[in-house]
Amino acid sequence: MQITLHAPLDMHLHLRDGKMLKTVAPLSAKSFAAAIIMPNLVPPVSTIEEVVAYKKRILAVTEDEGFEPLMTLFFKDTYDFAFLQKAKKHIHAIKLYPAGITTNSEGGVSTIDSDALATTLQAMSDLDIPLLIHGESNGFVMDREKEFIPVYEELSQKFPKLTIIMEHITTKDSVEALHRYPNLYATITLHHLLITLDDVAGGMLQPHLFCKPIAKRPEDQKALLEVALNAHPKVMFGSDSAPHPQSAKESCGCAAGVFTAPIALPVLAQLFEEEGKLENLQAFVSDNAQKIYAYTSPKKEVTLEKKPFLVPKTHGTVVPMYADQEIAWRIKSVSL
Ligand code: DOR
Ligand code: ZN
Repeated sequence: MQITLHAPLDMHLHLRDGKMLKTVAPLSAKSFAAAIIMPNLVPPVSTIEEVVAYKKRILAVTEDEGFEPLMTLFFKDTYDFAFLQKAKKHIHAIKLYPAGITTNSEGGVSTIDSDALATTLQAMSDLDIPLLIHGESNGFVMDREKEFIPVYEELSQKFPKLTIIMEHITTKDSVEALHRYPNLYATITLHHLLITLDDVAGGMLQPHLFCKPIAKRPEDQKALLEVALNAHPKVMFGSDSAPHPQSAKESCGCAAGVFTAPIALPVLAQLFEEEGKLENLQAFVSDNAQKIYAYTSPKKEVTLEKKPFLVPKTHGTVVPMYADQEIAWRIKSVSL
């Protein structure tokens, strides 16, 4: 059995910088036509010069793969219309982090007050720049995403023309919120389709499955699967593949992030096939995103086949999901 995907896209990806970038970027570039690149470097990517230079560094390590890095800026309430007008030709979105909520987000927004942020948000709306949000409060860890929903509601109502993307949703409540506002969309990761909190902490603690937002309950996983497997037009694939060195994961004070880049497409094929929904994978992994972002991807065809593949133990210093385990699908060929 095999499937050919046209221009698979990863709409939420962490590539880091330096040596780590060199290790991980080719793994995504091999199987994806393009990806939305997260700006949470140290310091965060927040000027046009930084966007341009980071894009250049990504292209330098992914050349010949036919991969387009879709750049983002780290949200600042100082961005005004004149700045964003200049930035627009270099970026595809702006990512808003509540301050301190996750890895390298210290420079994020301390209070998400739609009036205080109105100048930037209105300019984004006028210029058709999507707003991507890491939607978590600083409350109890299992309730953070639910507590953030009123913020999405307020923003969606106040800025009805702004495309707002709830990044890496993990709960049934988020799926329901998605349906209530026409300008609200979501990315869904592979790992949140596959695991619940039980897989992370129900037995021996699994640091390589620890991420933000943390995996939730079986009913949440079911709600995510329902919209993803049916390729609901408001959801799209965003891996949130977030590499950290093995030493930072297997340590007291484990860094948040699951590294799925090398296995993302084959395991998505495996999941969609097992659930009898392989025909919907193209929409989930490309078509929906192209419509939501009004983006046309360059041509790239990736053929996956159902043949066992042993996942490497590590890529450089990073341990991938399913390390040293067999998965049922593999990449057969890629044509540009
Ligand atoms: O688990 C996560 N890791 N969640 C995020 O939001 C950030 C990411 C990272 O950059 O490591
Ligand atoms: Zn992320």
